[in-house]
Amino acid sequence: MDIGAIEHAYRRYARVYDIVFGGIFQPGRKAIVERMHCSPGDHVLEVGVGTGLSFSLYPKHILVTGIDISRDMLALAEARKTRDQLSNIVQLSVMDAENMAFRDNSFDKVVAMHVASVVPNPERLVDEMRRVCKPNGSLIFVNHFHSQNPVMGALESLIAPWSSQLGFRPDLSLDRFMHKSGLMTTDIRPVNIFNFCTMVEAVNNKRFSVMDPLVMAV
Ligand SMILES: C[S@@+](CC[C@H](N)C(=O)[O-])C[C@H]1O[C@@H](n2cnc3c(N)ncnc32)[C@H](O)[C@@H]1O
Repeated sequence: MDIGAIEHAYRRYARVYDIVFGGIFQPGRKAIVERMHCSPGDHVLEVGVGTGLSFSLYPKHILVTGIDISRDMLALAEARKTRDQLSNIVQLSVMDAENMAFRDNSFDKVVAMHVASVVPNPERLVDEMRRVCKPNGSLIFVNHFHSQNPVMGALESLIAPWSSQLGFRPDLSLDRFMHKSGLMTTDIRPVNIFNFCTMVEAVNNKRFSVMDPLVMAV
Protein backbone atom coordinates (compact mmCIF):
# COMPACT_ATOMS: atom_id res chain seq x y z
CA MET A 1 0.00 0.00 0.00
CA ASP A 2 1.33 3.44 -0.88
CA ILE A 3 -0.32 6.85 -1.07
CA GLY A 4 -0.49 6.79 -4.88
CA ALA A 5 -2.28 3.43 -4.88
CA ILE A 6 -4.71 4.64 -2.18
CA GLU A 7 -5.56 7.82 -4.11
CA HIS A 8 -6.07 5.77 -7.24
CA ALA A 9 -8.30 3.22 -5.50
CA TYR A 10 -10.50 5.85 -3.83
CA ARG A 11 -10.81 7.85 -7.06
CA ARG A 12 -12.48 4.69 -8.40
CA TYR A 13 -14.55 4.06 -5.24
CA ALA A 14 -15.75 7.65 -4.70
CA ARG A 15 -18.86 7.52 -6.92
CA VAL A 16 -20.14 4.21 -5.53
CA TYR A 17 -18.72 4.40 -2.00
CA ASP A 18 -21.91 5.44 -0.20
CA ILE A 19 -23.97 2.74 -1.92
CA VAL A 20 -21.48 -0.05 -1.16
CA PHE A 21 -20.10 0.95 2.26
CA GLY A 22 -22.71 3.43 3.55
CA GLY A 23 -25.53 1.51 5.21
CA ILE A 24 -23.59 -1.65 5.97
CA PHE A 25 -20.99 0.09 8.17
CA GLN A 26 -23.25 2.80 9.60
CA PRO A 27 -23.96 0.95 12.91
CA GLY A 28 -20.21 0.97 13.67
CA ARG A 29 -19.92 4.69 12.89
CA LYS A 30 -22.94 5.35 15.12
CA ALA A 31 -21.44 3.26 17.96
CA ILE A 32 -18.21 5.26 17.77
CA VAL A 33 -19.91 8.64 17.99
CA GLU A 34 -22.08 7.45 20.89
CA ARG A 35 -19.01 6.13 22.76
CA MET A 36 -17.31 9.52 22.40
CA HIS A 37 -19.67 11.15 24.95
CA CYS A 38 -18.97 14.55 23.43
CA SER A 39 -19.28 17.66 25.59
CA PRO A 40 -20.40 21.00 24.12
CA GLY A 41 -17.48 22.71 22.41
CA ASP A 42 -15.40 19.54 22.00
CA HIS A 43 -13.30 19.55 18.85
CA VAL A 44 -13.15 16.17 17.09
CA LEU A 45 -10.74 15.26 14.31
CA GLU A 46 -11.87 12.51 11.94
CA VAL A 47 -9.00 11.17 9.85
CA GLY A 48 -9.81 9.50 6.53
CA VAL A 49 -13.24 11.11 6.69
CA GLY A 50 -14.11 9.87 3.19
CA THR A 51 -17.44 11.11 1.86
CA GLY A 52 -18.58 12.28 5.32
CA LEU A 53 -20.97 9.41 6.08
CA SER A 54 -20.53 10.12 9.80
CA PHE A 55 -21.46 13.82 9.64
CA SER A 56 -25.13 13.43 10.52
CA LEU A 57 -24.19 11.38 13.61
CA TYR A 58 -22.19 14.11 15.36
CA PRO A 59 -24.05 16.31 17.85
CA LYS A 60 -24.47 19.87 16.61
CA HIS A 61 -22.81 21.33 19.72
CA ILE A 62 -19.35 20.00 18.84
CA LEU A 63 -16.84 21.03 16.18
CA VAL A 64 -15.61 18.50 13.64
CA THR A 65 -12.56 18.70 11.41
CA GLY A 66 -12.13 16.07 8.69
CA ILE A 67 -9.11 15.18 6.61
CA ASP A 68 -8.59 12.74 3.75
CA ILE A 69 -5.86 11.98 1.26
CA SER A 70 -8.38 11.52 -1.57
CA ARG A 71 -9.61 14.73 -3.21
CA ASP A 72 -12.44 12.78 -4.84
CA MET A 73 -13.76 11.42 -1.52
CA LEU A 74 -13.34 14.79 0.19
CA ALA A 75 -15.22 16.61 -2.58
CA LEU A 76 -18.24 14.46 -1.75
CA ALA A 77 -17.83 15.26 1.95
CA GLU A 78 -17.79 18.98 1.06
CA ALA A 79 -20.96 18.55 -1.01
CA ARG A 80 -22.66 16.76 1.90
CA LYS A 81 -21.68 19.51 4.34
CA THR A 82 -23.11 22.17 2.02
CA ARG A 83 -26.26 20.20 1.17
CA ASP A 84 -27.07 19.42 4.81
CA GLN A 85 -25.96 22.87 6.06
CA LEU A 86 -23.65 21.39 8.67
CA SER A 87 -21.99 24.41 10.26
CA ASN A 88 -20.39 22.21 12.96
CA ILE A 89 -18.15 20.65 10.29
CA VAL A 90 -15.60 23.44 10.55
CA GLN A 91 -12.77 22.26 8.30
CA LEU A 92 -12.27 19.67 5.56
CA SER A 93 -8.74 19.36 4.16
CA VAL A 94 -6.72 17.14 1.91
CA MET A 95 -4.01 15.87 4.25
CA ASP A 96 -2.02 12.72 4.98
CA ALA A 97 -3.12 11.26 8.31
CA GLU A 98 0.39 9.88 8.79
CA ASN A 99 1.92 13.35 8.53
CA MET A 100 -0.58 15.95 9.68
CA ALA A 101 -0.13 19.72 9.57
CA PHE A 102 -1.94 20.26 12.89
CA ARG A 103 -0.13 21.38 16.03
CA ASP A 104 0.38 19.01 18.95
CA ASN A 105 -2.59 18.66 21.36
CA SER A 106 -5.10 20.34 19.01
CA PHE A 107 -8.14 18.06 19.44
CA ASP A 108 -10.21 16.57 22.27
CA LYS A 109 -10.90 13.35 20.37
CA VAL A 110 -9.41 11.80 17.25
CA VAL A 111 -11.30 9.15 15.31
CA ALA A 112 -10.38 6.77 12.46
CA MET A 113 -13.25 4.87 10.87
CA HIS A 114 -12.12 2.11 8.49
CA VAL A 115 -8.76 3.79 7.95
CA ALA A 116 -6.21 1.69 9.92
CA SER A 117 -6.27 -1.04 7.25
CA VAL A 118 -5.98 1.48 4.41
CA VAL A 119 -2.98 3.65 5.37
CA PRO A 120 0.51 2.47 4.44
CA ASN A 121 1.71 2.44 8.07
CA PRO A 122 -0.93 1.96 10.81
CA GLU A 123 1.57 2.57 13.65
CA ARG A 124 2.54 5.90 12.13
CA LEU A 125 -1.17 6.76 11.86
CA VAL A 126 -1.67 6.04 15.58
CA ASP A 127 1.41 8.06 16.55
CA GLU A 128 0.14 11.06 14.58
CA MET A 129 -3.36 10.73 16.07
CA ARG A 130 -1.74 10.63 19.50
CA ARG A 131 0.35 13.71 18.78
CA VAL A 132 -2.53 15.95 17.67
CA CYS A 133 -4.87 14.73 20.43
CA LYS A 134 -4.79 16.37 23.86
CA PRO A 135 -3.30 14.33 26.71
CA ASN A 136 -5.96 11.99 28.11
CA GLY A 137 -8.20 12.72 25.14
CA SER A 138 -9.88 9.86 23.27
CA LEU A 139 -8.50 7.91 20.33
CA ILE A 140 -11.13 5.73 18.70
CA PHE A 141 -10.92 3.27 15.83
CA VAL A 142 -13.35 1.08 14.01
CA ASN A 143 -12.04 -1.39 11.48
CA HIS A 144 -12.30 -4.84 10.05
CA PHE A 145 -9.37 -6.92 11.29
CA HIS A 146 -8.17 -10.29 10.03
CA SER A 147 -11.01 -12.73 10.66
CA GLN A 148 -10.66 -15.43 13.34
CA ASN A 149 -13.04 -17.60 11.29
CA PRO A 150 -10.77 -20.12 9.50
CA VAL A 151 -12.59 -19.88 6.16
CA MET A 152 -12.92 -16.09 6.13
CA GLY A 153 -9.38 -15.71 7.47
CA ALA A 154 -7.98 -17.93 4.72
CA LEU A 155 -9.91 -16.01 2.06
CA GLU A 156 -8.59 -12.71 3.40
CA SER A 157 -5.02 -14.03 3.37
CA LEU A 158 -5.57 -15.21 -0.19
CA ILE A 159 -6.60 -11.77 -1.49
CA ALA A 160 -4.11 -9.82 0.67
CA PRO A 161 -1.48 -9.62 -2.14
CA TRP A 162 -3.99 -7.44 -4.04
CA SER A 163 -4.31 -4.89 -1.21
CA SER A 164 -3.08 -2.01 -3.39
CA GLN A 165 -5.75 -2.71 -6.00
CA LEU A 166 -8.43 -3.31 -3.36
CA GLY A 167 -7.61 -0.08 -1.51
CA PHE A 168 -7.43 -1.82 1.88
CA ARG A 169 -5.49 -4.56 3.62
CA PRO A 170 -7.95 -7.41 4.35
CA ASP A 171 -5.57 -9.22 6.73
CA LEU A 172 -4.62 -6.51 9.27
CA SER A 173 -4.17 -8.38 12.54
CA LEU A 174 -5.89 -6.88 15.60
CA ASP A 175 -3.25 -8.38 17.93
CA ARG A 176 -0.42 -6.92 15.90
CA PHE A 177 -2.15 -3.54 15.65
CA MET A 178 -2.65 -3.42 19.42
CA HIS A 179 0.87 -4.59 20.17
CA LYS A 180 2.64 -2.24 17.74
CA SER A 181 0.54 0.83 18.53
CA GLY A 182 0.91 0.57 22.33
CA LEU A 183 -2.58 1.99 22.79
CA MET A 184 -3.91 2.30 26.34
CA THR A 185 -7.21 0.61 25.55
CA THR A 186 -10.37 1.31 27.54
CA ASP A 187 -12.77 -0.77 25.45
CA ILE A 188 -12.69 -3.24 22.57
CA ARG A 189 -15.98 -4.53 21.18
CA PRO A 190 -17.40 -6.02 17.99
CA VAL A 191 -19.68 -3.84 15.87
CA ASN A 192 -21.60 -4.02 12.58
CA ILE A 193 -23.48 -6.90 11.03
CA PHE A 194 -22.03 -10.36 11.92
CA ASN A 195 -19.62 -8.51 14.25
CA PHE A 196 -17.60 -7.90 11.11
CA CYS A 197 -15.69 -4.97 12.60
CA THR A 198 -14.07 -4.08 15.92
CA MET A 199 -14.24 -0.81 17.79
CA VAL A 200 -11.14 0.08 19.80
CA GLU A 201 -11.32 2.93 22.28
CA ALA A 202 -8.20 4.25 23.99
CA VAL A 203 -7.14 7.07 26.24
CA ASN A 204 -4.37 9.20 24.80
CA ASN A 205 -1.26 8.09 26.60
CA LYS A 206 1.40 10.27 25.03
CA ARG A 207 4.06 7.73 24.10
CA PHE A 208 7.62 9.01 24.26
CA SER A 209 9.54 8.74 21.05
CA VAL A 210 13.13 7.52 21.30
CA MET A 211 14.03 10.79 19.53
CA ASP A 212 12.55 12.95 22.31
CA PRO A 213 15.32 15.06 23.91
CA LEU A 214 14.26 14.04 27.44
CA VAL A 215 14.33 10.34 26.60
CA MET A 216 17.67 10.68 24.83
CA ALA A 217 19.13 12.47 27.87
CA VAL A 218 18.30 9.55 30.21
C1 LIG B 1 -12.48 2.82 3.73
S1 LIG B 1 -12.50 4.54 3.53
C2 LIG B 1 -13.33 5.07 5.04
C3 LIG B 1 -14.06 6.38 4.86
C4 LIG B 1 -14.91 6.79 6.06
N1 LIG B 1 -14.09 6.98 7.23
C5 LIG B 1 -16.00 5.78 6.32
O1 LIG B 1 -16.19 5.40 7.47
O2 LIG B 1 -16.67 5.42 5.38
C6 LIG B 1 -10.84 4.97 3.88
C7 LIG B 1 -10.55 6.44 3.69
O3 LIG B 1 -9.26 6.73 4.22
C8 LIG B 1 -8.62 7.63 3.33
N2 LIG B 1 -7.17 7.53 3.53
C9 LIG B 1 -6.37 6.50 3.23
N3 LIG B 1 -5.10 6.76 3.56
C10 LIG B 1 -5.10 8.00 4.08
C11 LIG B 1 -4.07 8.83 4.60
N4 LIG B 1 -2.79 8.44 4.67
N5 LIG B 1 -4.42 10.04 5.07
C12 LIG B 1 -5.72 10.46 5.02
N6 LIG B 1 -6.73 9.72 4.53
C13 LIG B 1 -6.43 8.50 4.07
C14 LIG B 1 -9.09 7.16 1.95
O4 LIG B 1 -8.90 8.15 0.97
C15 LIG B 1 -10.56 6.86 2.24
O5 LIG B 1 -11.37 7.99 2.05
